[in-house]
Amino acid sequence: MRVKSLHHVSFAVTNLAQTRRFAQDFGLHTVSDDGQRLFMRTSGGDAWCYRAEQADARAFLGFGFAVESEDDLAEAVERHGATPIRTLDTPGGGLGVTLTSPAGLKIDLVTGIRGEQAGDPAPGLRLNEPGERSRLAVPQSHRELGPATLFRLGHIGLFLSDYAASAAWFETVLGMKRSDSLHPGNPAVTIVGFYRLDHGADWVDHHTLFLGQSDRTDAHHISFEVQDYEAQFRAHRWLEKQGWEPNWGVGRHPLGSHVFDVWFDPDRYRFETFSDTDVVNCNHEPGHYDVHTQDMDMWSSDSPERYFA
Ligand SMILES: [Fe+2]
Repeated sequence: MRVKSLHHVSFAVTNLAQTRRFAQDFGLHTVSDDGQRLFMRTSGGDAWCYRAEQADARAFLGFGFAVESEDDLAEAVERHGATPIRTLDTPGGGLGVTLTSPAGLKIDLVTGIRGEQAGDPAPGLRLNEPGERSRLAVPQSHRELGPATLFRLGHIGLFLSDYAASAAWFETVLGMKRSDSLHPGNPAVTIVGFYRLDHGADWVDHHTLFLGQSDRTDAHHISFEVQDYEAQFRAHRWLEKQGWEPNWGVGRHPLGSHVFDVWFDPDRYRFETFSDTDVVNCNHEPGHYDVHTQDMDMWSSDSPERYFA
């Protein structure tokens, strides 16, 4: 099977109203909220991409991929032990099944969900560079101050207690492809993997899944695409002004190239914006690098420790 795209993430949260306030400041829009269960979406046309449920303790409840058709759901049931196909009671309807990964993660596969009308991106930046002026007698476009415009849920990072078994499972069951990986000084051991969707010769993000060996299995971060780095700097200042806690960024990763900015939600799960990602296809040759030789942020020499704590 080849999954089509990342569709949603689900969390248990300890104060749903506060989570909603954070997520709205971050750029998500509320689809429904009954005080116990909150659904939110981006401005990019999804019916929903974020679910939070009121609970006594924070928890990562799982995530989901969209697949092409009901045939993929049937394959997941027959070959990979997914739950029976069910009609979804979530926004936009559709059909879904749930798989359980080797580490016990609940991973939904969904199809046939009716999306929303996508919003328009802001006018792109036209940059006047030294020696190359392209914006002549025109001021830079003005954008409203406020929460970022999020275009889609782009990738998820996972802590895994069983990296090798889980990575193999994502490859064989969901058809994910390794774009790059890191080892701890011994190339025979892999501790971090960047996995992309398999769309053959079509271009896809460098990674849709970031997997990291850990002593636990949990969400590491969820990441939403924004228009460009100006949108990220503006969102950064906005979130700062609302009193939320930054984690890391604005910076640029070397693997995947994207500009990142990471914030803690009220339960200290990480929300990230990204822009300007590398895209690759089936001709991409994966790299396998020593983690000690890899800077995580090309714009600073800050240790990424706080990013992985
Ligand atoms: Fe990320």
